[in-house]
Amino acid sequence: MCGITGFIGYENAAPLLIRALKKLEYRGYDSAGIAVIHDKKIIVRKMKGRINLLEESLLENPLDGYTGIGHTRWATHGEPSDINSHPHTDSDGRIAIVHNGIVENYIKLKQWLQSRGIVFRSDTDTEVIAHIINYFYRKGHGSLLQSVIEALKLLNGSYALAVICADYPDRIIAARKDSPLIAATGGAGSFLASDITALLEFTRDVYFLNDGEIAVLYQDHIELRNDEGDLIQRETTHIDWSVESAEKNGFPHFMLKEIFEQPKSLENALRPRLKKDIIDFEEIKFDKKWLEARRIVIIACGTAYHAAVIGKYAFEYFARIPVEVDIASEYRYRNPIFNKNDIYIAISQSGETADTLAAVRLIKQNGGCVIAITNAPGSTLSREANEIIYTYAGPEIAVASTKAFTSQVMCIYLLALELGRARSYIPDTKKYTDELCEIPDRIRKILDKKEIIQRFASRQYNKTKMLFMGRQFDYPVSMESALKLKEISYTHSEAFAAGELKHGPIALIDSSTLVISFATQTALFEKMASNILEVCSRGAASLVITWEGGGFFDALNSEVFTLPKSEDCFSPMLAVIPAQLFSYYCAVQRGNDPDKPRNLAKSVTVE
Ligand code: M6R
Repeated sequence: MCGITGFIGYENAAPLLIRALKKLEYRGYDSAGIAVIHDKKIIVRKMKGRINLLEESLLENPLDGYTGIGHTRWATHGEPSDINSHPHTDSDGRIAIVHNGIVENYIKLKQWLQSRGIVFRSDTDTEVIAHIINYFYRKGHGSLLQSVIEALKLLNGSYALAVICADYPDRIIAARKDSPLIAATGGAGSFLASDITALLEFTRDVYFLNDGEIAVLYQDHIELRNDEGDLIQRETTHIDWSVESAEKNGFPHFMLKEIFEQPKSLENALRPRLKKDIIDFEEIKFDKKWLEARRIVIIACGTAYHAAVIGKYAFEYFARIPVEVDIASEYRYRNPIFNKNDIYIAISQSGETADTLAAVRLIKQNGGCVIAITNAPGSTLSREANEIIYTYAGPEIAVASTKAFTSQVMCIYLLALELGRARSYIPDTKKYTDELCEIPDRIRKILDKKEIIQRFASRQYNKTKMLFMGRQFDYPVSMESALKLKEISYTHSEAFAAGELKHGPIALIDSSTLVISFATQTALFEKMASNILEVCSRGAASLVITWEGGGFFDALNSEVFTLPKSEDCFSPMLAVIPAQLFSYYCAVQRGNDPDKPRNLAKSVTVE
């Protein structure tokens, strides 16, 4: 969840570390720090708060040195504070480390170190690692590398780690287990980061570390080693994301930029899979496994889970196959039933979500093949899944997922349609693919009306309860809208299937409530109209999001926002757009930073 960076090269490390950390700030932002080797000494600067505070202090009091590591923190062990910020050092101040992940056995290790006279300065699990490395180093385990290797053997849990030592200013040692880490050499020297976006401006040819691997970074090259220290040979992977894709490009926030990128990101998801109206997934084998499958199981977390629920509706609608959807954290612990005739799909924007990865491993241990839908090339999921479908949404920086969600949904629709054709439920997919090709332009039209949503948000952002309801394909869109709103505006929001209104949620309705209803399932318009009347007559403010043209909901005591007409079954990719905009504008009205909501981090790499 935190961000790690490292640099060793021919320029001062501090400014480069800060530049890279700013690209990683979305991974955690309660404190930040760097450590640099200067004159054979380690100098640490770290503090609670955002990276710009650290940057200001470095401008006032610069740090020189060509080797350094940096960190932006999302607190797990120990409150956000100057002391708990990374880097952490050993008692001699000769070794500094930054760490992402959780050392699960840190209490035992800490007690052992304390019994040897070590005094701890922080409440973090990370500090134990610095002291253990120092323990082996002092014991004369030969080299720094060997000391790191010995220390890693004692750690349970997950880590991405970068280590520097005042006695070895010519190298950075990095290691990973269950937490991403990328190393690259280019231009000014060698770089290390927990995320590709931090490296884009320096180089595109990167090494993705695998679990159990160690990278030793020198100014002009990188050695990859296994957990015993033996050298490994590996080609670099080329990343073709542009630098601009990780910049705001004139938008006030990444989230707004990413909302506006959706016409393009959806074209990117769609075009490579459409060959003259025929759906063609080159990357996966549409073999007998698909044709004979009895069930599809989809696992994911958060927003990706909502895409999975849309997947359930889509696969059942187009391909008439039963679908089970599960939150990955539930799936991994609930003793699920495995069947070799099932198709398993894992959806994850980052490809690094700990719960999703654990569920994938469980499925594979039980003989299942996993198809990943992910946005992140080189991610752990992309390397562990049997087959991969990339969403091609480009880097998503805002913590609140927007374009990654719609791209996941587009990929799922294509899969469902192709399966429906292969299983002979849809004779010809052209009618549907023609519609899918229209989606990007229809989103552009919705975005052109953003001021309507902005004005609506400026009137409603102070409501204390905001509820979202819908039926059929509109239900998962309601869930996603409620999540988006609570994540960045901190408003209590809930979603429910509109048919459930009278089974409980109606008790919440009063004049302090806003209800946003999605009404795009034409066959269910009358049912939705009744539900909307029920909430309006109890004093709630109401907005209906529906198709343009019909005027069906105009007579209700509700505001109406219309979407360009599409097939009802494809409405999620359109209906979610005004909801994303609404969340964004509510967050801004409330003075929140929509890109960096409190307590959240972009990629949940720990449980
Ligand atoms: O990277 P993933 O898609 O696996 O992430 C899953 C969730 O953590 C993520 O969707 C989260 O809910 C977002 N903050 C939603 O905006």
